[in-house]
Amino acid sequence: MLKDNGCMTRAVVTGGAGFIGSALVDTLVAQNYHVTVLDDFSHGKKENLAQSRDSIHVIDGSIVDLGAVETALSDADIVFHLAANRSVPHSVFNPLHFNRVNIDGTVNILETAKNVGIKRVVFSGSSAAYGDNTSFPQTESLMPNPQSPYAIQKVTGEHLMRYYWDSFDLETVSLRYFNVFGPRDDATSSYGAVIQIFIDRILSGKPIIIDGTGEQSRDFIFVQDVADANIAAATRARKDAFGVPINVCTGKSVTVNQLLETVQNLTGKKVPFSYGPSRAGDVVKTLGDNARARELLGFEPSWSFEAGLQKTIPWVQNQLSILHRQ
Ligand SMILES: NC(=O)c1ccc[n+]([C@@H]2O[C@H](COP(=O)([O-])OP(=O)(O)OC[C@H]3O[C@@H](n4cnc5c(N)ncnc54)[C@H](O)[C@@H]3O)[C@@H](O)[C@H]2O)c1
Repeated sequence: MLKDNGCMTRAVVTGGAGFIGSALVDTLVAQNYHVTVLDDFSHGKKENLAQSRDSIHVIDGSIVDLGAVETALSDADIVFHLAANRSVPHSVFNPLHFNRVNIDGTVNILETAKNVGIKRVVFSGSSAAYGDNTSFPQTESLMPNPQSPYAIQKVTGEHLMRYYWDSFDLETVSLRYFNVFGPRDDATSSYGAVIQIFIDRILSGKPIIIDGTGEQSRDFIFVQDVADANIAAATRARKDAFGVPINVCTGKSVTVNQLLETVQNLTGKKVPFSYGPSRAGDVVKTLGDNARARELLGFEPSWSFEAGLQKTIPWVQNQLSILHRQ
């Protein structure tokens, strides 16, 4: 077990300039961790690190570059491995590049962690592992059924984590995030896009066309909860948490219709809306079971959907005003 309050625990966050990584970095800094970010800024942004900039060490490098990984991990206690290419459609068109980052990069992290004596690696997996499995709520005992190169790579990452724990006693925790939302999501490649599009259109008074019936639903989890789950995995994981996938979800599913109503209520604005055709390949529902996270990590989400939206709306509003000034 790692030190609970940080006590200058040395943490590396790969992908720390991204949406979830930067929320984790801010939380770690607030808890007195010594943080190094390894990010190639392919999707991450310097401004995401503005809040913690003076307290962290940033390495502009790729997880595909073994030398950069060795430099970043050389004197660390723990690695939070978030760096990845995360777009499902792009992974279909560019599987070789995705494989290099999401698989070779992950092996670089694990191999280096083993060689330099890292205590624990926390991996960012994805509920995309469940694919079109329609048994709800989705529990970790379900057989993975990944449907894209991205999802296959995330499942492979989990197996690599298990292998390094089984074979080398490297402590690994694989977290399977459901649909993460919140400030700093660039939302071009995630289902969180629907949240930002709705906020954007409602604030700008533009009409909305809902895909399909609007009864499709997602287990949306607020980004701060995901950061907290990572820290629980670092500090409170039981031994039987190592090497197994663990859902990070709320256990509640919000429909697109409910999302629209909630954003309208929170902003106090209403816009006309209508229903259009369904999106090709859209899954009807995601809903996870979070019993394992409660049991093995002592983690429970603490942000309601409304509370998360209340933090997201002003961020989208600010992005809009930046856009309009340009
Ligand atoms: N956002 C979600 O809803 C969601 C859901 C499930 C899993 N995940 C996983 O969580 C992790 C973080 O996702 P995110 O939503 O913050 O995405 P993001 O794109 O905002 O962050 C990923 C970060 O990794 C960096 N990166 C990419 N390739 C790199 C490389 N070769 N070397 C170093 N850095 C590199 C990017 O620059 C970016 O800063 C990813 O592993 C993703 O697969 C996200």
